[in-house]
Amino acid sequence: MKQLLKTLTETFGPSGFEDEVRKVILKEVKPLADEVRVDALGNLIVRKKPAKGAKNPKRIMLAAHMDEIGVIASHIDKRGFVRFTNVGGTFGRYTLGARVRFMNGVTGIVGYDKLENMDAPLPINKMYIDVGASNKKDCPIKVGDFGAFDRSFIEMGDRLVAKSMDDRSGVLVLIETLRAITLRQTQGGSTQNDLYFVFTTQEEVGVRGAGVAAYGIDPDIGIAVDVTPTGDTPASLKMVMELGKGPCVKFRDPGMLSDPRVVDWMIQTAEKAKIPYQREVLLVGSTDARAIQITRAGVMAGVISVPCRYVHSASEMVDLNDLKNSVKLLTAMLSKAVSF
Ligand code: CO
Ligand code: ZN
Repeated sequence: MKQLLKTLTETFGPSGFEDEVRKVILKEVKPLADEVRVDALGNLIVRKKPAKGAKNPKRIMLAAHMDEIGVIASHIDKRGFVRFTNVGGTFGRYTLGARVRFMNGVTGIVGYDKLENMDAPLPINKMYIDVGASNKKDCPIKVGDFGAFDRSFIEMGDRLVAKSMDDRSGVLVLIETLRAITLRQTQGGSTQNDLYFVFTTQEEVGVRGAGVAAYGIDPDIGIAVDVTPTGDTPASLKMVMELGKGPCVKFRDPGMLSDPRVVDWMIQTAEKAKIPYQREVLLVGSTDARAIQITRAGVMAGVISVPCRYVHSASEMVDLNDLKNSVKLLTAMLSKAVSF
């Protein structure tokens, strides 16, 4: 599981350029799936059909986004410095000093015009990327080139740190859940639901992939698996979510209210199977579940969140046990017929 997470997080994939990530996922899921397709926006849709004779199988869409936050080159000056803007929630304070890799493999470092006041905010329109060029002509970056943080995966005991844990850790949870359900099948367990594991695109720029995928699938129930910021670091927002205390069952974020039936399903399954879980009320951000919930005539939707520190930095931290318990919870939920 750790090796796959390392591969997933070290793969390049800002919004709109999820191809490399999709390739890694495809290799894992192809042997496990009944159907695989890619839609026009690049969403990877992996289906696990219900057993023959399943009564009123529910169509359940699981979503984890492949894309990560990034940058896009907007101007190259005469000395070859690259000005850029954000792709998704790329914050200045996390970007200054970072290394960025562009789609053509070129690496650059992020500098700042002038630091007059060390405590002033750091807007990214005062930043540039130095790719080692000396003039505009020898600059290997063109306007319109996408980049993303360049940072390797590390382990700190059970704490795992990498760029794009948001949301490759969710991607990992979906892959491992699909694997667990397939294993269960080979041991004689049958699937009572019609499952769509969807690896979505363009979440970070406004949950765009999940919306069209949900329109196409027309699910009865939608569940996003994404990270959630925690309240367990010095002077953090007053939130109860902590690293290592289990997957979070979302009640609310600024973009959605979870369907109470889906919340009950999650909590009852966790309690029955003795899987640790946390209650989540998130004060900032949203997920693919918002787009699924308000597609077509509306879909019952909820979220299982992996607690994560330093979200949208190049060193996002999750706990291995939370990943394992998220897989357990999702597998337990999907292994039984859903009755609501
Ligand atoms: Co995000
Ligand atoms: Zn996310």
